[in-house]
Amino acid sequence: MPSDSVLEEIKNGLDIVDLISEYVNLKHAGQNWKGLCPFHTEKTPSFTVSPSKQIYHCFGCNSGGDIFSFLVKYENVTFPEAVNILAKKAGVTIKPSHKDTVKTGEKEVLLSIHKDAVSFFQQQLVKNEKANKYLIERGIDIKTQKLFYLGYAPKTWNALLNYLTGKGYKADVIKSAGLVTQGTKGIYDTFRDRIMFPIYDLKGDVIAFGGRAINGDDPKYLNSPETIIFNKRMVLYGLQRAKDSIKETGCALFMEGYLDVITAHIHGFTNSVAPLGTAFTQEHGKLIKRFVEDVILVFDSDEAGRKAAKNATNILFESGLNVKILALPDREDPDSFLRKNGKEAFQELLQRPLSIIDFYMLLKGDRRSIAHEAIQTIFRISDRVLQGHYVKTLSEKLRINEFFIIEELKKLKKNNKSQETKAVSKAPSRPKSLDEIYIFKLLLQLPERSGEIANTFSEEDFKHATTNSVFKKVKAGLTDFNELLSRSEGDEKDFLTEVSLSEDIENPEKALEDCIKRMKGNKRKILLQELQGKTREAEAKKDFNLLKTLQAEQQRILKR
Ligand code: UTP
Ligand code: MN
Repeated sequence: MPSDSVLEEIKNGLDIVDLISEYVNLKHAGQNWKGLCPFHTEKTPSFTVSPSKQIYHCFGCNSGGDIFSFLVKYENVTFPEAVNILAKKAGVTIKPSHKDTVKTGEKEVLLSIHKDAVSFFQQQLVKNEKANKYLIERGIDIKTQKLFYLGYAPKTWNALLNYLTGKGYKADVIKSAGLVTQGTKGIYDTFRDRIMFPIYDLKGDVIAFGGRAINGDDPKYLNSPETIIFNKRMVLYGLQRAKDSIKETGCALFMEGYLDVITAHIHGFTNSVAPLGTAFTQEHGKLIKRFVEDVILVFDSDEAGRKAAKNATNILFESGLNVKILALPDREDPDSFLRKNGKEAFQELLQRPLSIIDFYMLLKGDRRSIAHEAIQTIFRISDRVLQGHYVKTLSEKLRINEFFIIEELKKLKKNNKSQETKAVSKAPSRPKSLDEIYIFKLLLQLPERSGEIANTFSEEDFKHATTNSVFKKVKAGLTDFNELLSRSEGDEKDFLTEVSLSEDIENPEKALEDCIKRMKGNKRKILLQELQGKTREAEAKKDFNLLKTLQAEQQRILKR
């Protein structure tokens, strides 16, 4: 763990507004900047970034922190990793401890292995006539092969293994990259006799491969296993090439496969992406939402395609995206459609994608079950205006009363709520007492009285788990608010950033006196209540000795 002074140096070298602007569209709002929270779905911005305090806080989902916690949460990296990334940005060099180097070292080695594997597969493609012929027949010329860094894994058991060990990588490490597999007789290349599609992350590093069999082997597509650098659910094929175009066109095209994406790109639809042999996930939705809100799902209109489109729509609506559907003629995928019918025909279809209502209208089945399915989908739309619009259209098209749809939505909401409450009740509750919150605000506003605050109150005055644990730190000597903030994590940090961004208390001196009075008064009330309970018990048991002591105690408290 780097020292506090290094963390300070990194903080001083970076501005939190600049950093977060790389991920979130922030707008000036008074002293602060505001945007849509990247950590939960919302339509009105409650995510606040303070340049003067160098912290962020979301008043919607209550998460907050500094540049480090932002990166940890957003990029899903560990704290030391976040420190490394930000140190690089800030131009600060850190002497890493041994433990830190092992972890980042491991990732870097895996990235480097993948880079070398790409070159190897590319060299093999040039040499292999059959693989070449396959790609050309599928309409992928040399230029496109280079553009997408396509390659070929030869039909041997250990060509890649030998190549990589020759480069100095240990077999164990190659195994943890997923490029070789452990069998009963030893290790062998995972990918054999396949066209290789490198999979890039947003930074432009290759993190995995997809391999297509060219001789009818099973499975048709084989993907790298999950590794410490590859989590399928979070990656979209082609996004690294497509992201600028997605921003420019204001829309992302979601397709099913690698070849669909490549063919779409070479026909000029450079805003196309696909998942990696998995269904679409909420993570995919969030990832895209960084760039755009409108997506069009391009699907085969056969039964399987329709089912996939339904599921994808439901999930992506939940991520707060606005989803439309482009149904291709039966048995066509974007790849085959584009090759047969050309760019203009596809462009034509793109002009009028189906709204989800129109999509449901095309399905065969009785009105009732269609209505139910459509309502399930509408339910997931977080934008109330858009939801209202779809309720209206559904009611018109199906000729059912809007009232019926709204009632159904209410029912779904109720069911969902009861599930949600269960989930929420597990999460730590918000602090109950305003005084517990005020005291931290006063610590910030009255630094000259922080010692006094620490001495006047005790841990027991803070009933809530979070305020209690933060106050323990104050008691232990962390009376400077900023120091307290930087030494806190998780719920504590969320709480402190919220306090720090809340409005200033107008007359802090008086507020402090009042707080002290109220909290001490409260304490007395609680003590007296406890005594009353005990007194009742003693009365019931007719324990007169105990009653006497309890009464004396009560007198003492009342006199105080
Ligand atoms: P498809 O079977 O529809 O193939 O799978 P495709 O994309 O049209 O491929 P070609 O045109 O036959 O070459 C769609 C996607 O599902 C994943 C792959 O990502 C593929 O691109 N998939 C498919 C797998 O991961 N494994 C498989 O065995 C099959
Ligand atoms: Mn295909």
